[in-house]
Amino acid sequence: MNQHVFPVPSALKSTAHVDAQSYRELYRRSLEAPEAFWREQAQILDWMKPFTTVKNTHYSPEDVTIEWFADGTLNASFNCLDRHARARGDEAAILWEGDTPGDTRRVTWSDLQQEVSRLANALRALGVKKGDFVSVYLPVVPEAVAAMLACARLGAVHSVVFSGFSAEALAGRIEDCRSRVLITADEGMRAGKHVSLKRNADAALEGLPFVEHVLVVRRTGRDVPMTPGRDRWYDEALAEASAECPPVAVGAEDPLFVLYTSGSTGKPKGMLHTTGGYLVHAAASFKAMFDYRPGDIHFCTADVGWVTAHTYLIYGPLANGATIVLFEGVPSWPDASRWWQIIEVYKVNIFYTAPTAIRSLMREGEAPVRRHDLSSLRIMGSVGEPINPEAWLWYHEVVGKGRCPIVDTYWQTETGAVLLCPLPGAMDLKPGSAAKPFFGVQPALLNGEGTVVEGEGSGNLCFADSWPGQARTILGDRERFLKTYFGAFPGFYFTGDGARRDADGYYWITGRLDDVINVSGHRLGTVEVEAALASHPSVAEAAVVGMPHEIKGQGIFAFVTLKEGIPESDALRRELMQIVRTRIGPIATPDRIEWAPQLPKNRSGKILRRILTRIAAGDFENHGDTSTVADPAVVAEIVRRVQAGA
Ligand code: WTA
Repeated sequence: MNQHVFPVPSALKSTAHVDAQSYRELYRRSLEAPEAFWREQAQILDWMKPFTTVKNTHYSPEDVTIEWFADGTLNASFNCLDRHARARGDEAAILWEGDTPGDTRRVTWSDLQQEVSRLANALRALGVKKGDFVSVYLPVVPEAVAAMLACARLGAVHSVVFSGFSAEALAGRIEDCRSRVLITADEGMRAGKHVSLKRNADAALEGLPFVEHVLVVRRTGRDVPMTPGRDRWYDEALAEASAECPPVAVGAEDPLFVLYTSGSTGKPKGMLHTTGGYLVHAAASFKAMFDYRPGDIHFCTADVGWVTAHTYLIYGPLANGATIVLFEGVPSWPDASRWWQIIEVYKVNIFYTAPTAIRSLMREGEAPVRRHDLSSLRIMGSVGEPINPEAWLWYHEVVGKGRCPIVDTYWQTETGAVLLCPLPGAMDLKPGSAAKPFFGVQPALLNGEGTVVEGEGSGNLCFADSWPGQARTILGDRERFLKTYFGAFPGFYFTGDGARRDADGYYWITGRLDDVINVSGHRLGTVEVEAALASHPSVAEAAVVGMPHEIKGQGIFAFVTLKEGIPESDALRRELMQIVRTRIGPIATPDRIEWAPQLPKNRSGKILRRILTRIAAGDFENHGDTSTVADPAVVAEIVRRVQAGA
């Protein structure tokens, strides 16, 4: 795996923002003098009131404190808009490409500034003020960007919910942050199909009387029910609002957004991000890791519902004044050349996507790529899951023609911005490795006993000390925050991932060590899927594990025990698939459901997932230590069924 090394292209060596020597020097300085280092980095933003303190962080068992630039004030929307609108208002901020080819919009910096100001005023008229939560359930349209920035303009906190999530998933996320306002659309468009967002939103709001206002973006113009007194058309509300809205001064430690992600228990966690540290980390890392140059066109394929879009489609690029391509559709529709066509048309320079998509496009062969001129590409990124060397090489050779460095960026919803990645002008690339720590970031591998592994080796991937983009808490559940991230290895932040460090100090992520699975780069808690399955009246119990999947990275394997007397049938399998889609969303649909007369448990009744994970991976022999299984015959029966069904 280690034999392929791709050196820094010579052109980049001399021109990149960060070269090999400056990486070493800056990285050393970022650890030795973090205050001075981050004080300089923070100058990438405009502050309203400059901060005097940089960092107040402790990870000791008695005290977890995470504060950055605490006494400074700023406004995120000012940094992402006004300062660019002032200098070059007529240039494009957003190049929007709709689901249907040919459906496009060009939004300039001044257009966006005006839209954001109007929306901020419209929200204010609905009673939204600093510190209030606003939920956003929108497709990838410019209004989604406007919604986020309009909240930021008022100091309100946005909670974007992926538009592929079900009504029930949306309801849970609105209830948790108790937003009184929801911004949604009549419908979304995906691969030519209409997605009924307003209908989902209506269903979600049935049990949530505290939601007083719904702004509805006209995306497709189809007729949707509007509840009088509660629902308003977005365009009508904006038409009445003034296009002047001075940005509110927000404390660096005031929240900017909450974003829900899956953990190892059933309830999604609302990761709370604050304004100053997050925006510094997002902006500085965007510039360094993509070696951003003024004038670059940046295309990040993530949906606005995920953290990747928050940080590297919206906040990081816009803070730098980058022009972003916003694409509503999917890479495979109308055909597999859709992304390549977009790159050609918009002359994209920086392209950022996920391994799953690369693997599925790889299957379509080289022809769809070769049909398009991709010579504008300079830097390409990967995020969300480990990238297998085969997909890396295809991406590098076929898409990037061997010219473009691939920046494999490792980070999490919780980390806010990147922690590990090769800086393209500074580091040789090894396919499949997220290379080295970003500035100020101190990775540590800890073994099962909690001892730090030095040099080459593997372990639990942890980080010593804080970085500015770090989530400050789980909304409403500080205990869970402390326990999940700081409980396992006192003094360290624990990611939940395993990693290996090679002789050159490069990190290789080996995947999640907890009950989180990563399906096509989307995080899902196995417990959430189990709860959805168990809500079916015929199900006694369910256990869900990840299984290797050629395209998705991981697929979902569900072992289901039916209630006494319920016959096993394919119709029931389909019903169970459907209940998961309804309760969570299509991304959580199991790839395989196998009936299990009983689940393997230990003597105290705990399901032994470790064994099920091996069986799901097709490993029928090696179950490790089975001495804890209460009834070994249960395992044998499951193996028999899985083998028969495979
Ligand atoms: C995984 C996405 C390997 C990892 C930004 C992490 C990765 C989880 C990489 C976070 C990468 C993310 N290589 N694995 N470059 N990037 N992961 O919160 O398991 O959606 O813990 O954030 O994705 O997923 P999340």
